[in-house]
Amino acid sequence: MRLLVFGGWGQFGTELVLAAEGRHELIRPTHLEADVTDGGAVEAAVRAVRPDAVVNAAAFHRVERCEEDPGTAMAVNTVGAVNVARAAAGAGARAVLVSSDYVFDGEKGIGYAEDDRPSPVNLYGVSKAAAEQGVRIVCPDSMVVRLSGLFGHAGSSGKGGNFVESVLARASAGESLSVVDDQRLSPTAAADAAARLLELLDCAAPAGMYHLANQGSCSWFELAGAVLELSGLQAQLSPRSTGPDEVRRPRCSVLADTRTGPLGLAPTRPWRRALAWYLEARAEPRFRRSPR
Ligand SMILES: NC(=O)c1ccc[n+]([C@@H]2O[C@H](COP(=O)([O-])OP(=O)(O)OC[C@H]3O[C@@H](n4cnc5c(N)ncnc54)[C@H](OP(=O)(O)O)[C@@H]3O)[C@@H](O)[C@H]2O)c1
Repeated sequence: MRLLVFGGWGQFGTELVLAAEGRHELIRPTHLEADVTDGGAVEAAVRAVRPDAVVNAAAFHRVERCEEDPGTAMAVNTVGAVNVARAAAGAGARAVLVSSDYVFDGEKGIGYAEDDRPSPVNLYGVSKAAAEQGVRIVCPDSMVVRLSGLFGHAGSSGKGGNFVESVLARASAGESLSVVDDQRLSPTAAADAAARLLELLDCAAPAGMYHLANQGSCSWFELAGAVLELSGLQAQLSPRSTGPDEVRRPRCSVLADTRTGPLGLAPTRPWRRALAWYLEARAEPRFRRSPR
């Protein structure tokens, strides 16, 4: 399969490259080469590559920045998503939008299923929820894959790393950590989500919504504790509540995957096992960070 990936040099895209190695051809224009907000540039890239599937992992996703600059959030996350999906549809390719657990308000209290109604509580979530709708309208043969709390070896370029790496860095520097315990998530290895997306494409999964997450859930505080425990680093770790001045985030954005099992795909591994693998694999040359 020939895959064209927008946002392919980020955390998720980098794992997609590794997962596709030797099996699929993957082309990933840089942000400079094809800005998703530029419909003409996106269309030209799709026309030049003639892909079987187009994955849009490009995003403006630092939550605080989306509140400060909703124009850019909507331009990149929503209009960009529609541009990519429309170009894919025009070229007869499948479109895949990478979306987020933050489309939910977090009040359900248990894991969200794919058909649960989005009800975002911040502008990043609004831009992603609108993207999901837009993509479905312009490209009926599209998949939307929601992810949550990613940790990938490249680190998120938009967020300047990932949570696991920042816990490791701060603990190594001898800093103490105070981490929120009132937000639950599905921590997910970007490598596992990338592999699962390729499985969906390989088995020609039906169009629609999918949740790609490692099994289980925890709070950010518990995740920090697991990082320290599994890495053997010592640091003072204390729980805190989300502050009144912080951007509102869902209290429980756990993603339940009810769709990939019925397609015959094996369950993903629990998040702790994925985290243990991630921490070990950091030492492998192919996972070492390279300057972007
Ligand atoms: N990270 C998470 O915890 C998380 C959780 C849930 C969902 N997601 C979703 O998963 C996807 C991938 O996340 P990630 O962690 O891999 O993000 P990332 O590392 O920040 O990668 C995003 C990529 O998009 C590129 N990009 C940004 N604006 C662009 C534009 N206007 N046109 C073209 N490319 C653009 C960036 O390039 P530059 O760096 O050169 O700008 C970067 O290569 C995103 O859709 C995100 O919303 C992430």
